[in-house]
Amino acid sequence: MENYSSVPFFSSAASTGSFPFLTRYPELTLDYWAKSFGDLYSVWLGNQLFVIVSDPAIAKDLMVTNGSVFSSRKEMYVKSQTVFAGRGITATPYNDRWRKHRRIAFTWLNQRAVDSYTATLDREATSLIKALLVASDGGKTPVNPQPHAGRCSLNNMTTITFGFRTDGIDDPLVKRALKLSREFMNCTGPMSNLVDFIPILQKLPNPMFTRGKRLHQGLVDVYGGFVKDVEAKVKRGEPVNDCLAKTMAEVREEEKLDDLDMAIMASAFLIGGVETTAAIMQWFSALIPAYPEIQKKAQEELDSVVGRSRLPTVEDEKNLPYCHAIIKEVERVHNPFWLGTPHVASEDFTYRGKYIPKNTVVVLNTFTMHHDPERYPDPYTFNPDRYIEDNLTSAESANLSEPHKRDHWMFGAGRRICPGMIVAEREIWLTVSRMLWAFDMTEIPGEPIDLKEYDGLSGRSPVPFKIKLTPRDESVAEILRNVKV
Ligand code: HEM
Repeated sequence: MENYSSVPFFSSAASTGSFPFLTRYPELTLDYWAKSFGDLYSVWLGNQLFVIVSDPAIAKDLMVTNGSVFSSRKEMYVKSQTVFAGRGITATPYNDRWRKHRRIAFTWLNQRAVDSYTATLDREATSLIKALLVASDGGKTPVNPQPHAGRCSLNNMTTITFGFRTDGIDDPLVKRALKLSREFMNCTGPMSNLVDFIPILQKLPNPMFTRGKRLHQGLVDVYGGFVKDVEAKVKRGEPVNDCLAKTMAEVREEEKLDDLDMAIMASAFLIGGVETTAAIMQWFSALIPAYPEIQKKAQEELDSVVGRSRLPTVEDEKNLPYCHAIIKEVERVHNPFWLGTPHVASEDFTYRGKYIPKNTVVVLNTFTMHHDPERYPDPYTFNPDRYIEDNLTSAESANLSEPHKRDHWMFGAGRRICPGMIVAEREIWLTVSRMLWAFDMTEIPGEPIDLKEYDGLSGRSPVPFKIKLTPRDESVAEILRNVKV
């Protein structure tokens, strides 16, 4: 590792030596180095130069203002085995193909589209609360919220992508889909596979290679298979619910989409849109039992604005600033992607007098950015009040001209910023506000919840835990009585 003021393109002794520090909790190592080497430093891993960005203004200068240079992806070796089955693609420029995928995806993720399927998000959030109520047996049985959160997010994505939903956490697709997403997160950490950085290892048989191939096959079989089912129905003229797969089938010729394009786009929704929103619901559920006073304050706000005869809705959000602030604070302290998705310099670039060669991987170090004591005083304390004046959505906040005022960096930055922000925020709002409305959430005595450990390399969710969910009153069961889970 080098101070960035040194010339960043000689091989350093730290190259593979740095690796052990970056396999587990890489964000803590990068944070530690940021404190010694500053907001912009470089590190070699094997044959790859990384530049680590830990400051909002630098993030904006590089990824937004110079987005034409810093929007390519480095396809990690394992990821390329996964997504493209080793077709020899090791770097993916932000080219016409990716722009096309993003454009088609966005027809299902823009504000108008999300408004059109908010009834789906609403239904799934309600059915989540009902499933938790049933599983907790009125507060008597400890509940692990993870499969329920996973199923809720999965149903939203299967409905948007393929036009169907699953019936319950025992549906085999729930297990299969959640396993695929988890395996993707475990195979594709931005800095975590040695094989990505040591070319000689790519020539040898190794377990990550096999896992990558198996995962690719799983994605193509499961999600590519659903796309084909939808396409066949469209061709036969059978009725098909509006969904991404239907759109792709309709524009296939005009957009020159092949089977793999369609399977990848569907997989991107199922990978990008399931473990992520589910992770926030899980971090919220794992964290909130330790804060009874925050729950109480949120419940007072909910009771005065919404009352006890209905669930909170999308329209209520603007009138519930404290609940809105709780969500932003959970996202700050438990970003599922501390290191985002790396961007790559597509040409040589000089920034503040420093030379960033073409193909350098640029990592957004959001852990350090989310714990900056100047932006977030007392940064290790969970304190929703810090967002109480912030009435913007995260999608709006990402467009602020002053980058230090942005709420957080969970959705990434620049041209590749998460296109699913609007749907993600709506899902999270509906589920979290309804959990606060419905339950008192407490720890199980003698079973402390571990908030430090986590599952996943590229995406994080809490290790398994159980909590007690006590319905706040009888109106919860009454309102949910006729809801189908
Ligand atoms: C809490 C929820 C979510 C988080 C934290 C999240 C985060 C991210 C991040 C960090 C990126 C990379 C951004 C960058 O390159 O700078 C990304 C990309 C992406 N996200 Fe999300 N996301 C979430 C929800 C969703 C949802 C609901 C969808 C729905 C389909 C989605 C679809 C995608 C897709 C397709 C990409 C790839 C975009 C590209 O490469 O151009 N995400 N997301």
